[in-house]
Amino acid sequence: MRTPFVAANWKMYKTVAETVAYLRDFGTLVSAVDDVEIVVAPPFVGVHAAAEAVRDTRVGIAGQDLHWEREGAFTGEISAGMLKEAGARYVIIGHSERRTKFGETDEHVNRKVKAAVGAGLTPIVCVGETLEEREREQTLSVLDRQLRLGLDGLSADTVAALAVAYEPVWAIGTGRNATSAQAQEAHAHIRDRLREWFGAEAGDSCRVLYGGSVKPANTRELVSQADVDGALVGGASLDAKAFAEIVAASRPGRI
Ligand code: PGA
Repeated sequence: MRTPFVAANWKMYKTVAETVAYLRDFGTLVSAVDDVEIVVAPPFVGVHAAAEAVRDTRVGIAGQDLHWEREGAFTGEISAGMLKEAGARYVIIGHSERRTKFGETDEHVNRKVKAAVGAGLTPIVCVGETLEEREREQTLSVLDRQLRLGLDGLSADTVAALAVAYEPVWAIGTGRNATSAQAQEAHAHIRDRLREWFGAEAGDSCRVLYGGSVKPANTRELVSQADVDGALVGGASLDAKAFAEIVAASRPGRI
């Protein structure tokens, strides 16, 4: 039985003050939820204050990216160890905006995943096809490439403990979510591949999240699919009440 996993990706939204105010409200709204792993990823500058704000709650904090080196002359970058020290327990890696707007490759993703694991952070590894790739019926082969290269060299135990987020690029920020059947097809494929490459136990334990225009109104339908273990939420997570509703709709008893 996989624990549902719901993560907020705030992207470049919210100041430190806004982050702390949100988490105060959100912490109250989800205080009774003990059966969902809940993660919030603020911009880097808010990570430390966010971690302090959720200290006595079940909410975990994530970075939205990291650099694979421990330290060095990499202006503007943040290492896994720095994130961990600031209080993050998770990190999003390979988001499609990093891939398409900042030139991130599958090889970069792989280095970042290894650095995260090495520092004791749980990676949330994003994969997903563009609209063009879907129309050319390349969805599954794109997922295979991103997963094979992105997770190359990891142990079965590492794969069992991380989360993969299936985020079709055409569904991100567009208001057009994948149907639950499209999500389930991709998620089942991802899980099959993880089982094949890392063993049945790793494939069965790894949480596979859906991302792309998740809202309170479509969460239950998506997470009720057998291989959809939760959600990575952008726009709708910026509102504490909406994100708390998404968490509530992901609770095992409610599905
Ligand atoms: P969205 O973003 O929920 O705003 O579509 C999802 C994401 O980019 O992770």
